[in-house]
Amino acid sequence: MKSIVSVKRLTKLYGKKGSQTLVLDNISFDIRAGEFVGIMGPSGAGKSTLLNIMSTIDAPTSGHVTIGEQVITKMSERELSDFRRHELGFIFQDFNLLDSLNVKDNILLPLALDRQKVSEMEKRLKDVTTILGIDHLLTRFPVDISIGQKQRVAAARAIITQPQLVFADEPTGSLDSKSATELLQYLSKLNEQEQTTIAMVTHDAFTASYCHRIFFIKDGVIFSELVRRNSRKEFFQTIIDMQATIGGGINHDVI
Ligand SMILES: Nc1ncnc2c1ncn2[C@@H]1O[C@H](COP(=O)(O)OP(=O)(O)OP(=O)(O)O)[C@@H](O)[C@H]1O
Ligand SMILES: [Mg+2]
Repeated sequence: MKSIVSVKRLTKLYGKKGSQTLVLDNISFDIRAGEFVGIMGPSGAGKSTLLNIMSTIDAPTSGHVTIGEQVITKMSERELSDFRRHELGFIFQDFNLLDSLNVKDNILLPLALDRQKVSEMEKRLKDVTTILGIDHLLTRFPVDISIGQKQRVAAARAIITQPQLVFADEPTGSLDSKSATELLQYLSKLNEQEQTTIAMVTHDAFTASYCHRIFFIKDGVIFSELVRRNSRKEFFQTIIDMQATIGGGINHDVI
C-alpha cells in the first residue's frame, strides 16, 4: 500500500542557544494509507511534538513531512489552513472547543466553513453524534458538559468532515472505560470501513491495542516498533511488556 505520511530526518530543538533541548533527533518513518498507527513513550518523550509537526500545527527545526503528494513542511500558512480543513481531522489533548458555540455548532464548524448543504450537515451530525453518544447534548455549551463529553464532541468535530487522515493526541485520556471503548471502536470502524488513516498518541496500552502498528519514542528517537500480528488482547500484553522495558505509561488491569 502506498505511503500517506512520510517523515524524513525530522529534528526538533526547543530553547535558546546554550540551553537547547533536543526533543526529536533525526526521526524517519512512513505511514501507509489505511493504517492505524500509535505513538507511545514516556511523558516528555516528544509524542505531542511529533504529532503536531506531522499534522501541520508545529514546524520542525529540520527535516520534512510529506502528506500524500504535498510536502507540508514547505507550505505557506494560507495553503496549510486550506489543507488542514479539507484533508485532516484533529482530536487534541485539550479539545479546543469554542466556548461561545453550543455543541452542535462546535461539531458543525468545519462543515459550515466549507458551506456544505444543510441537509448533508444534519445527516452527518446525526450519524456521528449517535455513534459517540452525544446526540442529547447538542444545545449545551462546552462549560456545561463533562470532560469526557467534551472529548467526544471534539472527536465528532474531527471526523464529521470525513478526512483521509485523523490525528489524535490522547483521545481517550479523559474518558471512562466504556466511553473509551466506544470511541476506539468507532475509530476502528472508520479506519476499516472508510480506510481513514489514523495516527494516535497514547500512554495507555488498552487504547494502543486498537492500532496496527506502534512506534515507541524515547530520548528523541524511535526506540522500538511493534506490529500487531494476532488478537487485540495478545497485542495488549505485548505493549505492556514493551512499556515495562522502556518505562512510562499507565496500565489498565482489565481488557
Ligand atoms: N514550546 C515548548 N518550548 C520548550 N519546550 C517544549 C515546548 N513544547 C514541549 N517542550 C518540551 O519538549 C519535550 C517533549 O514534549 P511533548 O509535549 O512533545 O511530550 P509528550 O511525549 O507529548 O509528553 P506527555 O506524554 O506528557 O504529553 C518536553 O520536555 C517538553 O517540556
Ligand atoms: Mg503529549
